[in-house]
Amino acid sequence: MHAVLALETSCDESAAAVLRRHPDGRIDVLASRIASQVEEHARWGGVVPEIASRRHVEALPGLVEAVADEAGLALDQLDAIAATIAPGLAGALMVASVTGRTLAALHQRPFLGIHHLEGHLASVMLGDAPPHPPYLVLLVSGGHTELILVADDGGMKRLGRSHDDAAGEAFDKVARLLGLGYPGGPAIQAVAETGDATRFRLPKGRISLPGGGFHPYDFSFSGLKTAMLRTVETLGEAKDQLPLADLAASFEQVVADVLVQRSLRCAEDHGVHQLVMVGGVAANRRLRRCMVERAQERDIAVSIAPMAFCTDNAAMIGAAALLRLGQNTASTSLETGVAARWPLDQADALYTTNAPF
Ligand code: KG4
Ligand code: ZN
Repeated sequence: MHAVLALETSCDESAAAVLRRHPDGRIDVLASRIASQVEEHARWGGVVPEIASRRHVEALPGLVEAVADEAGLALDQLDAIAATIAPGLAGALMVASVTGRTLAALHQRPFLGIHHLEGHLASVMLGDAPPHPPYLVLLVSGGHTELILVADDGGMKRLGRSHDDAAGEAFDKVARLLGLGYPGGPAIQAVAETGDATRFRLPKGRISLPGGGFHPYDFSFSGLKTAMLRTVETLGEAKDQLPLADLAASFEQVVADVLVQRSLRCAEDHGVHQLVMVGGVAANRRLRRCMVERAQERDIAVSIAPMAFCTDNAAMIGAAALLRLGQNTASTSLETGVAARWPLDQADALYTTNAPF
């Protein structure tokens, strides 16, 4: 049985969690807390990196104490201390990284520096129906929109990606355009609930191939954002007269349609019968509903990360750490810093005795 403390500060949520993995692979979240800074960043319409770093410094020590107390475990009883070290805002990442490495040195525990996207991928293991490889993952967050095939041996291959904005970014930008505030996803979802999703026709953002035709699994959301702007201009209404519910619902529907259609097609083309959905946008109710309904028609099983672990949290970082411990990977060198960018397919380099950055 393994137990870990996990820390996450890569963007605007400070989070800590304690988790335990049973010999049969089941994972218990013993404690998980998040101190959100959303309200403070909302004033500026997006994340202000400098404010994020300072708030992490203030919030993280209290969160660590609270989750250790709640889990009833002393830090020197843990098998490892884990923290997100890439990718994300460098100054923000540094807070969990330094805290994690200090605690690891102090309590003489191994340190695991986790890749943030590996954390999102592991979040589905915290649900009732953890998938077994092979499966296709739709990772949809504020920074990424990717289709990743996880093969029988656990190896990963990216099969699709966005060429411009990530899906979450599109939600955030369109929410700003509609005057709905930050973060855009939850704001659009709330307004869209009573809207007519068929009222406005919006483009599905296809990526042309050099030899003709379209890329079957890639995405583009910047044209959709422009189309929303044009639609609003054409309506010519004052901001407080806009049909916000219909606009939000039509936008949400086209994003869900595109994500669901291309994911299912990719799974079918690769003979995969399990689809996993993770990341902040996977919290979207319309998207969850559409994915489950249409996958069912095609005999594809769907596992979605639990709602509480879709947006950034530390439990998913702990789950990734527990999976790494189970594979007996080396711990991360205490010399390792943080990286604002680091590809997921090079995540193995984080769990070695040589510091990659
Ligand atoms: O995974 P996440 O917390 O952070 C990143 O790693 O990026 O994702 C944040 C993104 C934001 O763009 C936010 O607007 C979006 O996820 N989001 C949603 C919902 N909740 C969060 N998008 C659509 N519907 C939601 N309910
Ligand atoms: Zn994230």
